[in-house]
Amino acid sequence: MQRFLLLFFILFSGFFFSQTQLNLIPYPQKVEFKSGNFEINENTLFVGDKKSNEYKYFINKFKKIYPKDLSKNIKKVKPNFISLLLNKDLKIDYKREFNSNYILNISDEMIMVIGKDSEGLFQGIQTLLQLIETSKDGKIPALEIQDSPKFAWRGMHLDVCRHFFTVEEVKQYIDYLAMYKLNTFHWHLTDDQGWRIEIKKYPKLTQIGSKRKESMIGPYVDNTFDGKPYGPYFYTQEQIKEVVKYAKERHVTIVPEIEMPGHALAALAAYPELACTKGPFDVATKWGVFDDVFCPEEETFKFLENVLDEVMALFPSQYIHIGGDECPKTRWKESAFCQDLIKKNNLKDEHGLQSYFIQRIEKYLNSKGRKIIGWDEILEGGLAPNVAVMSWTGIKGGIEAAKSNHFAVMTPGAYCYFDHYQGDPQTEPNAFGGFTPLDKVYSYNPIPEELTKVQSKYILGIQANLWTEYITDFKQVQYMIFPRLFALSEVAWGTSKPENYKEFENRAISHFKILDKMGVNYARSIYNINGKVVPSQNGIAYELSTSQNPEGIHFTVDGSIPTAHSQTYKSAIPVLKSMVIQSAYFENNELKSAVSSQDFITSKTTGKKITLEDQPSENYSFGGAFTLVDGIMGNQKQLGKTWLGFQGKDVVATIDFGEKTQFSEVYFNTLDNKGSWIHLAKSATVYISDDGKNFKAIKEIGKDQILSAKGKIKINVGNQSSKYLKLKIENAGIIPAGNPGADSKAWLFVDEIGAN
Ligand code: ACM
Repeated sequence: MQRFLLLFFILFSGFFFSQTQLNLIPYPQKVEFKSGNFEINENTLFVGDKKSNEYKYFINKFKKIYPKDLSKNIKKVKPNFISLLLNKDLKIDYKREFNSNYILNISDEMIMVIGKDSEGLFQGIQTLLQLIETSKDGKIPALEIQDSPKFAWRGMHLDVCRHFFTVEEVKQYIDYLAMYKLNTFHWHLTDDQGWRIEIKKYPKLTQIGSKRKESMIGPYVDNTFDGKPYGPYFYTQEQIKEVVKYAKERHVTIVPEIEMPGHALAALAAYPELACTKGPFDVATKWGVFDDVFCPEEETFKFLENVLDEVMALFPSQYIHIGGDECPKTRWKESAFCQDLIKKNNLKDEHGLQSYFIQRIEKYLNSKGRKIIGWDEILEGGLAPNVAVMSWTGIKGGIEAAKSNHFAVMTPGAYCYFDHYQGDPQTEPNAFGGFTPLDKVYSYNPIPEELTKVQSKYILGIQANLWTEYITDFKQVQYMIFPRLFALSEVAWGTSKPENYKEFENRAISHFKILDKMGVNYARSIYNINGKVVPSQNGIAYELSTSQNPEGIHFTVDGSIPTAHSQTYKSAIPVLKSMVIQSAYFENNELKSAVSSQDFITSKTTGKKITLEDQPSENYSFGGAFTLVDGIMGNQKQLGKTWLGFQGKDVVATIDFGEKTQFSEVYFNTLDNKGSWIHLAKSATVYISDDGKNFKAIKEIGKDQILSAKGKIKINVGNQSSKYLKLKIENAGIIPAGNPGADSKAWLFVDEIGAN
């Protein structure tokens, strides 16, 4: 009996072992292992339509992985075959609505990739190339894969306006998409900071709109510029044709984006007559949102139709992206023409005018046989009949679209914005903000729970976006998309299993070798140490973790850089006073991660019980109320991690000291980042109580004191002794005219409430 069990174990452990050895991304829908191996050697012959694009693509890539001259010995020994075939009647064991189905059959003698169509064959080729690339000594396990995508739209976006990337770089980007079975490239071609597509009818768009005087550098709040002219940078129509052809050969559809009615300053700098105030304007040099937008006059529509005619002639995609996001209504409110137009067309308000704008453009594009897709805000004032929504501010836009029988592509910022940090911002290159690590991308399910089965058919797929305000070169583009593109790929293909994240992470690490060979720069943030403040008996403690072997964590608390010989981390490190904890991950004495460094500033509130009357907004709620007393000061680079964000709401926080406590100063932080609609607090009031019910106001400060503080706001309250401390911080309210986001609710960002 025991021997039988042992035999059983050996047989099946071998089986499971070989299963975990398939380092494929995205993982296929169905894998059946067989016995044996196919060995690539000098007798390997290739079979397929040698003239086809897919055959040529395969041979070209194969030669890079396996540079030996093949098919030399076939006269002496029996050859083996790699066959690339098409079979339009191909059946897979499970139902799928899209093309791209393929079967990959591997035996000792033969590898067969059979595509239902050329797209399916191409995806099968990617799987085979990955198997070859990650195989050891040219041996590929015998198996059968049946595969097809879950989502029709598997997209990546690239902003070439804030920073420009060359034709060669864009082609490389498209290559990455193709390697990981993504099929849609959303090319963000126009914005406030640059117009990047040649339009023959309007030469000034590129003569004037493709360059700017200088560019913002560093954090937005610093308002610092590099003083260096940027541009002219744009793609000629010939170059665009070349890129479209290149993408087509890789079964990638390019969806061009021409932004309207907002994000149009580069166009308005060239043709100021298209704005309500008629200019003059400069191409934007700073990031953010601008009040000057296209004016909905006939001349503007004619211009946009002419531009779109040239765009459609270049891009054969079914969808044209028309932007639609972040369009302030300031100028439309001030314009007699716009107000008249609203009345004439019985529109409700300026949001109705935005809807009118989009519907006119939609009608035009529909009349040319195309469809439009736009960002969430095209929902404002009612959706045009046939539009698709790209849901970015969250998932609401996608849900609303699907519920009203409109298609949607899910790209919620919290999961799909690859301009966010992917590791601790203190150890990462400067990024836009936010925190979207690999496991977060991997955890995303594009089908919102609220949708019925029928409604969920309107979810076309998923896309990740790369905005490039803080990405100045292509190495940084690579760094920001890898390895997160792996997670996107698997979610889009429909085989992600967030509960098995670790297994996915191991596959991702195995693909680092492929990226190394290609000379691609990628983030090693998954090796980094994650720190988490936890309440402890005496205040707080700092918990360190890694997704790797926890025994590899070493740390210091004396300001020195950790080495493999520094203290090994065992359990949460007590933080009893202000200090710095530095940590890093080591494997075989080799430093694998960046060094993480965390400063703590403790006060009498640190680690105490804290409650909030109103909760922060979901995207800026990291750590909940405890974030305000965790000993970590709010930091510009860690918007999504060290601050709590409240839109249109005051912050009312009550701290329970647990016993009567003396203090004479109360402090807190708020942010000033008007470009991101974040405004300083209007006032702050300190209250005390001994029973937690009856509070007495002891000090109020106004806007002037908050403004003059520039950062940490200290309130001198005289000698106090109380069991409870309450702080009310007043939101700025509605954003005043002349600011980005005017008339919307302001954000209030608050951190660390301390008392000494
Ligand atoms: C966007 O991020 N403004 C679509």
